[in-house]
Amino acid sequence: MNPKNDLFLRACKNQKIERTPVWLMRQAGRYMKEYRELREKAGSFKKFYKNVELAVEASILPKKILDIDAIIIFSDILTPLESIGMNFDFKEGEGPVFENPIKSPEDIKRLKPFNVEDTDYVGQIIKGVNQKLNREIPVIGFAGAPFTLAAYMIEGKGSKDFKKTKTFMYNHPQAFKELLDIIADMLIDYLNLQIQSGADAVQIFDSWAGYLSPKDYKEFALPPIQKIIKNLKRDYQPVIHFTKGVAGFIDFISSSNADVYSVDWMVDIKDAKAKLYPKAAVQGNLDPTVLYADKEAIKKEVDYILQSWGKDSGHIFNLGHGLMPDMDVEKVKFLVDTVKELSFKVRS
Ligand code: CP3
Repeated sequence: MNPKNDLFLRACKNQKIERTPVWLMRQAGRYMKEYRELREKAGSFKKFYKNVELAVEASILPKKILDIDAIIIFSDILTPLESIGMNFDFKEGEGPVFENPIKSPEDIKRLKPFNVEDTDYVGQIIKGVNQKLNREIPVIGFAGAPFTLAAYMIEGKGSKDFKKTKTFMYNHPQAFKELLDIIADMLIDYLNLQIQSGADAVQIFDSWAGYLSPKDYKEFALPPIQKIIKNLKRDYQPVIHFTKGVAGFIDFISSSNADVYSVDWMVDIKDAKAKLYPKAAVQGNLDPTVLYADKEAIKKEVDYILQSWGKDSGHIFNLGHGLMPDMDVEKVKFLVDTVKELSFKVRS
């Protein structure tokens, strides 16, 4: 059954809409004091995302505070990796750090088979959100893309140059492809669990693929995404494919066969529309840094994006990347209100 407000789903399918739907990447995060209170209660980020009750609360905060048109569940792209034997923790100020990063092709053989039941709590969070919100707005499930997850597994933490990942990829291309394929198979089960649990859409986050050359992107990062999208069991649920740095791949990215492409601000929204629409819908693409500027500037940038897209359906307003912890909730709320107000005007 469709949620009561299905603007987001209609835009994903290029069906008629009254105004542009809006939600924001990393909308469930530290910039909200209510989030910081829940995190304090949980004790650590990991305990937080595994605690179904608290994770449901965190997921729905942006509905209460910002009144966005879709909820992304509160979780992380790394959550399924524990099941295959990758141990990590989130270090204060540093982000995720792995105990046992992959250093050689032999390490890949030591990975455990994925047991989807280990991620049951993620399905419970989706069910909990739908229950708590009484199906008011759509719920988005998500996963990291194989390349981005493989990069975390090899680097062992965040990186500026992906030296270890690329060295592995060039020295052992076949083993690297096998690793990507293991991750793709894991994500098929993981995303199918989310869809079965009631996710109305799923987003695949390829935050780091933009560091690859177009040739290497085609050879390594794209095939496992095509495999995932092909193997999802869905009735109506759209797949959103987010690639940070998509500008270099914009001429062929649509071969992943997603329903929606989430684009960052390095590509002009008019160019994204020209290349991707109407075969697919487009999500994006405000530079999140605009939120540090004053309200007039925010309004001007929102207006540019909405005017550039025009009256057609097929656009979901979002940022080009996530909200940052030091952003001002009041301005984030202003952004959401402004998108709603101006998109009515553009369409009238
Ligand atoms: O968008 C949402 O609000 C939903 C929840 C969500 C989180 N992470 C919560 C989170 C989503 C969709 C993610 C995705 C994610 N996680 C990505 C892909 C998107 C992107 O931003 O490129 C990546 C690369 C990660 C990995 C990750 N998780 C990092 C690098 C960090 C540390 C960041 C930092 O500043 O400490 C996390 C932790 C994380 N994930 C937090 C949240 C709210 C902060 C945890 C905390 O300390 O409370």
